[in-house]
Formats: sequence, C-alpha cells, structure tokens
Amino acid sequence: MSQVAAAVQRIIAPISEDLLAVDREVIDDLQSDIPLIKKISDYIVTAGGKRMRPIVLMLIARALGYQGKEHIFLATMIEYVHTASLLHDDVVDESDLRRGKPTAGFKWGNAPAILTGDFMYSRAFQLMVRTQNLRICEIVAGAVNRVSEGEVIQLLNIHDTTLDEARYFDVIERKTGVLFEAAARMASVVAGASKEVEDKMAEYALCLGRAFQIIDDVLDYTGTKVNIGKNLGTDLREGKMTMPLIYALRHCSEEDAKIIRTAVSSNDPDLESVTRVILASGAIDACIEAGKKEVSRGIDALNCLPTSAFKNSLIELLSLTVERDR
Ligand code: IPE
Ligand code: IPE
Ligand code: MG
Ligand code: MG
Repeated sequence: MSQVAAAVQRIIAPISEDLLAVDREVIDDLQSDIPLIKKISDYIVTAGGKRMRPIVLMLIARALGYQGKEHIFLATMIEYVHTASLLHDDVVDESDLRRGKPTAGFKWGNAPAILTGDFMYSRAFQLMVRTQNLRICEIVAGAVNRVSEGEVIQLLNIHDTTLDEARYFDVIERKTGVLFEAAARMASVVAGASKEVEDKMAEYALCLGRAFQIIDDVLDYTGTKVNIGKNLGTDLREGKMTMPLIYALRHCSEEDAKIIRTAVSSNDPDLESVTRVILASGAIDACIEAGKKEVSRGIDALNCLPTSAFKNSLIELLSLTVERDR
C-alpha cells in the first residue's frame, strides 16, 4: 500500500462505519423514475470520489462529542452539493475526464450533465429541508450561493494575466473552501457546539480547502493523469491563472514572462514551455510553502478540541493535502 493510501486508511479508521453508511446513502438516495437521471447520477457517484467533505463533517461532529446519527444524513447532502458542482464544473471547463472516467458531459452531452447536476442540487435541498433546522438551511444555501459566485468570478478572470494572489485566494476560498466550511459548520451545529467553537472549525475547514485547491492547481501541471483521475494542463488551456502561474510570472525573466502571457491568452497554449518556466521559477516550492502555512493555521484552529482519534485524523487529513503525490 502506498504511503498516501495508508494515511487515508488511518484517517478514516475512527469513522469507517459511518463512512460506509454515507456511501450507501449517497448511492441509494438518488432514486429517480427518469432513467437518464438515474444512469448519470449513478455513474458519477459510483466513480470513486474521495468523499472528503463527508469525512471532514463526520470527524468534526465526532471530535465535538456528537453521538447521534444525523451527521450521516448531512454528510450525504454535502456530497450531493459537491458532486452537482462537479457535473456543472466539467461542462464549464470542457473537461472530459473526472475520477478516472470520461465525464458525464463527454459521455451523454452537456445538457444531460447540467440537468442531472440540477437534480442533485435539488435532492440536496430536499435533504436539507428534512432537517427542519433553519441554521442548517442557512449554511447550505449560503454555501451554494458563494460557490456559484466563485465560479463566475473565475470565469470573469479568464485570460487575465494581471490576476494577483489576493484575487486568486478569493476565488479558491469561494469555489473550494466554502463547501468544506459548510461541512464544518453543520457538524458543529449538529453537535451543539458554541458559536466560538463553530468558527474555529470553520477556520480549520477553510484552511483545508485553500491548501487542497493550491495543491490541486500544482497537480494540474506536475501530477499524473492516473493519480489525479483528471487530464493535466486544463487550467492553462482554459486561460486560468492559478498560483503556480501567478508566482512564476512574478519571479521569472521578461522572456519567460512573455511565454506565460502568450499561453494564458492563447486558445492552444504551449503547456510544455509553460511547465518548464514554472518549474524553473521555484513556483512549486512556493505553492507548497503556501499550502503548509494553511496547514499550520488550520491545526492551530483545532486547539479548542479535546484530544481524540477524531482530532488526530483531522490533523493528519490537513497535513496530507500538501503531501499528495506530486
Ligand atoms: C474536486 O474535488 C474539485 C476541487 C475542489 C479541486 P475533489 O478532489 O474532492 O473531488 P472528488 O470528489 O474526490 O472526485
Ligand atoms: C473545482 O474547481 C471547484 C468546483 C467544482 C466548484 P476546478 O475546476 O479547479 O476543479 P477540477 O480541477 O475540475 O477538479
Ligand atoms: Mg474543473
Ligand atoms: Mg473549474
């Protein structure tokens, strides 16, 4: 077993039964009389997602002493929101590979993929309403709202080589951080935690989301298709400035900067040359450093939790985000 796989096993060990229950719910709760919806939704939920948001939600709930079963239901809901956002994202990004398989849009066309995404969002809302808890509704509705804004801001940023770190962080916080934050807040609400503790858990989750997205953006240049289950170089092809590019542009020669600017503006960018400039600029190390900063901030936010296997898993999960295969 690889080191990462062994770490994942250790992380999920304290919640392994609950996670199996979530997996069953995620698959079983998507019933629809419409065969195309059933086919596409089954396809995406059984394709092997990492279930990170459910894992975070359940670890936090348990770390806060929660003993009930409602967290399984909330975890299912957040996974639907996440999966719906991926169905839409792959259409927007024109991606043809997700979770190591052809995307729904590639297999069935963009319209069915978008509409099945809507079906999943609305199934999440049905689960949300069933909680009859206004705080939970507020958290989920607010998160979906901000994720959509993040995706639109990112769209507006395309081909913009003046994009700086502050604007990049705004996007990744919204498009990725916010769903982790929602998972953390729901866990805190269900466990009856104080507002102060809820905010600390939210801070941990935002750090996790930022670190995770920074490394995801690194892997888009340095990963392998097999390990990440997605195609490489998609950000550059979309004209998307992510942290490796933002850093490289600020730390390379004028000649190399021209290579980056031309590529970001082009519809057929030279991925190989840009990757070479990124590697030579020290951008990868800078991204890892930025990820590590998030890791240490996130771990600090967990100080208010008593020692437990769940807390240890939260720490290890956050650390793992910057240790992923590069
Ligand atoms: C993909 O999230 C979208 C990003 C935030 C980079 P995950 O990498 O958690 O996706 P799955 O669910 O494991 O496929
Ligand atoms: C994922 O953004 C975030 C959402 C789905 C909202 P990306 O487009 O960067 O993620 P991948 O690389 O497709 O997983
Ligand atoms: Mg994408
Ligand atoms: Mg995207």
